[in-house]
Amino acid sequence: MPHAAWTELEAAARRDADARIVDQFAADPGRLARMTVEAAGLRLDLSKQSWTKAGFEAALALARACDVEGRRAALFGGEAVNLTEGRAVLHPALRAPAGAAFRALGEPVSAEVEAVRAEMRAYAEAVRSGNETGATGRPFQAVVHVGIGGSDLGPRLIWDALRPLDPEIDLRFVANIDPRDMAEALTGLDPETTLVVVVSKTFTTQETLANAEAAKAWLAAALPAEGMARHFIGVTAAPEKAAGFGCGRTFAFRDWVGGRYSLWSAVSLSCVIGLGWDAFQGFLDGAAEMDRHFLEASLETNAPVLLALAQIYNVDGLRRPARTVAPYAHALRRLPAFLQQLEMESNGKRVRRDGSPVGRPTCPVVFGEPGTNGQHAFFQQIHQGPQVVPAEFVIVASTDGETSESPLWANALAQAQALMLGKSEIQARAELIASGASEDEADRLAPHKTFPGDRPSTAIVLDALTPQALGALIALYEHKTFVEGVLWDINSFDQWGVELGKALAKSILRDVAARAPAPDLDPSTAALLQRLIR
Ligand code: F6P
Repeated sequence: MPHAAWTELEAAARRDADARIVDQFAADPGRLARMTVEAAGLRLDLSKQSWTKAGFEAALALARACDVEGRRAALFGGEAVNLTEGRAVLHPALRAPAGAAFRALGEPVSAEVEAVRAEMRAYAEAVRSGNETGATGRPFQAVVHVGIGGSDLGPRLIWDALRPLDPEIDLRFVANIDPRDMAEALTGLDPETTLVVVVSKTFTTQETLANAEAAKAWLAAALPAEGMARHFIGVTAAPEKAAGFGCGRTFAFRDWVGGRYSLWSAVSLSCVIGLGWDAFQGFLDGAAEMDRHFLEASLETNAPVLLALAQIYNVDGLRRPARTVAPYAHALRRLPAFLQQLEMESNGKRVRRDGSPVGRPTCPVVFGEPGTNGQHAFFQQIHQGPQVVPAEFVIVASTDGETSESPLWANALAQAQALMLGKSEIQARAELIASGASEDEADRLAPHKTFPGDRPSTAIVLDALTPQALGALIALYEHKTFVEGVLWDINSFDQWGVELGKALAKSILRDVAARAPAPDLDPSTAALLQRLIR
């Protein structure tokens, strides 16, 4: 029964609250082996988490009681797991090897996936080779990718992570409705050699349509009208809308691809143009390998399951409402932003699948910066603040440009160690005395130089930032997010929470047009509106 398993997990966490992480290695000699797994070329080390052996087993028992395996089968089987929208959720179909036989709500989808992949590949190769040209016959040298949320964050992450330092194609991204974003992206580009890829699952998103119109105006000022469509590519689940907008060509995906899970589809066409097909295929292959691991590994050695359980243990067992993610690779600097959408839009929910309240905390606040930048910003709070914030270190064994004598990863290991070990007040005082401080000075300063320690962290290790490793890493996080949704019994695949603000923005824009707040507007919003109307 999930209820009893939750009670047991909470009780185990209460007992573990007094056990120090560092002591557990001696108390439980099998700890490191039990809490370390290898999956699709990645290593996951959860042995610096707060759980004891008993806590770890209580978490695994929760996964069993919540039927993670059954719900996983429903996901891969193309059932309507997104039950508020009546849709299957089949991003694994997008990265499956040729010849797979996925079905969405019973309908075969793999042949169509392969056909779109072939179209993407051929088109990207034609752009890269110069065979595909713009309105005036010149080859494309720049691509402007227009999209927001799931139609932006994934491709941006892929490009930043894998792009060469001096790419053949100048790929730029525009998401924000603030015209400054588009203005920055277009600076220095030549309309004759610029391709605009408009990415929107719905093709109704206000920001993306406004930016696409701005790009159209920029192109129209320089190009003959009859050739304009060659400069516009649509990527969407609503191809008729993209054609209506003026896209000369459209790459489609289906409604069983969630926006924040769509980077495996034609949504990443701009990256395929920028990187070439082989890199994208490697990215898909890495994810497919993680899919196989997720499907085949037992729960106790299953990387996405264990990563999810560590989060559940922190959030629900120990009531820690935030988690920081620190990728120690500059090229992964967009990972925290990507994970914010993946996790917070998927699992920032308060009701179960049946509509009843979850009754316990769900998705934590996810935030982060690349290492070592974060160390010089918010890590102070993580080391010495009274609230415990679990940390996740994404470590790359070798990154471009670093030396083997001072690898970036050494900083990640040191931070994780400092978080776990801390420094006692006695130790801090002794160090002060040893460095020449007086007894009074040592008494005064020691509390400030004390680190409580016992702060949990996870390490995820990649050998190198290859396309395969990046694919495996993102798929790991996707499945982890899914498993958490299973344990909380929520629908991880809708996002109704973004709708209300969108609707109210329309009504505020009506007030702006009327140059007066509506009579029923609350006093604070009305006063702000008056102040802002120019
Ligand atoms: O923010 C809400 C949202 O619907 C996201 O889920 C989605 O990724 C984003 O907007 C963009 O949507 P679209 O791809 O339809 O433009």
